[in-house]
Amino acid sequence: MLAKVGPASKGIKRKLRVPSDKSLTHRAFMLAAVTRGESVVLNPLLSKDCLSTKGCLERCGVLFEDVEGGFRIKGGIKEPDDVLDAGNSGTTARLLMGLLSGYSLFFVITGDESLRKRPMRRVVEPLSLMGACFMGRGENGLLPVAARGGALKGISYRTKVASAQVKSAILLAGINAEGTTVVEEPFKSRDHTERMLKALGADIEVGGLRVTVRRSEVEGFSFEVPGDPSSASYWIAAAVLVPGSHVVVEDVLLNPTRIGFFEVLKSMGADVEFEVEGERLGEPVGKVEARYSPELKPFVVEGDVIPRLIDEIPLLALVATAACGESIIKDASELRVKESDRISSTVSELSRIGADVEELPDGMVIRGPLKLEGGHCWSHRDHRVAMTLAVAGLVSKKGVEIGEAQWVSISYPNFFSILEE
Ligand code: S3P
Repeated sequence: MLAKVGPASKGIKRKLRVPSDKSLTHRAFMLAAVTRGESVVLNPLLSKDCLSTKGCLERCGVLFEDVEGGFRIKGGIKEPDDVLDAGNSGTTARLLMGLLSGYSLFFVITGDESLRKRPMRRVVEPLSLMGACFMGRGENGLLPVAARGGALKGISYRTKVASAQVKSAILLAGINAEGTTVVEEPFKSRDHTERMLKALGADIEVGGLRVTVRRSEVEGFSFEVPGDPSSASYWIAAAVLVPGSHVVVEDVLLNPTRIGFFEVLKSMGADVEFEVEGERLGEPVGKVEARYSPELKPFVVEGDVIPRLIDEIPLLALVATAACGESIIKDASELRVKESDRISSTVSELSRIGADVEELPDGMVIRGPLKLEGGHCWSHRDHRVAMTLAVAGLVSKKGVEIGEAQWVSISYPNFFSILEE
């Protein structure tokens, strides 16, 4: 699909709810799958990635029954009778490897062309130390991976990268392992698995960058998934950049490990506010609001803030084109192993449409302010690159044409219809 996005002719004034959170939907499905009894997950995100998780769990015997606004899920994991296809979803592949490793069964996981290039050793290594047995392509580092789980023992493990997927895989294995499992990470990554397990009564403690879990059984639960702050970011960025805009996003997840993008916008002098209004399964939920902000300061983002805005970095690079001066993104080499190499895809596509961006091994330098020209560009089959380029179209002189824009459906199926409205 070729999407055409013209320059915005007037300000964006909208109060909206964005599709539900992707990370929370994956986890709600997976935790419901291992509980004894039934759970109800309302407002799940029904994007391609979350449907990959649902499909894999169904292959493992988990029953999803349609109810109004969501699913009733009957837990109980059995040996899958075929290969599990995680599609484009790293979260599906990595978290499932952890979860299924705790059961005495055989499974094979594969994924699409992009996922089959992404590193899996980061989960295979700790899960093997716990006692699961893996065989995979690329000396056990790439999908497809075949595994036999069961009889796990707790480990104490320090992850090399701040990755919620790695941490969560170990924790989900840990709830079915003998003894104590400890994971320590270099910086804090999103902590949904910990929060949800704790809210469901699991034996889990968090102390700074260290999480400790022991064998636990979780009961069935009911959870209404809030909106995804990563999806909200596109409209918040559009509001900040398009003159005359005012956008309010309601019922959105405001977990501190997910709102680094809004905090950086504020530090740039943008008119952005967020407010927590309640909590669901240990997760803060509230609203975010943004208005057009003409005077933006440049930023330096590095170190511990990176995991808290990792999925918003392509969009942050776009916002930086409007800031007065040089903005720098460092310590973000994890972007090279996302759905696309997001350093190279962001730099090449933003440059194509007129930005002044320079690639660094672990980030980029963006110089502004400038008005983007626009023109033809490509999603790199990456949902977040596609949505960033769509926002770029709104603030460009002549608009953009995005090749293979249909990839937005990985996390935001109706993105272009909302944009049209
Ligand atoms: C996710 C964790 C992040 C993020 C991804 C979703 C999750 O990946 O980029 O979109 O749900 O745990 P890493 O943990 O590998 O950094």
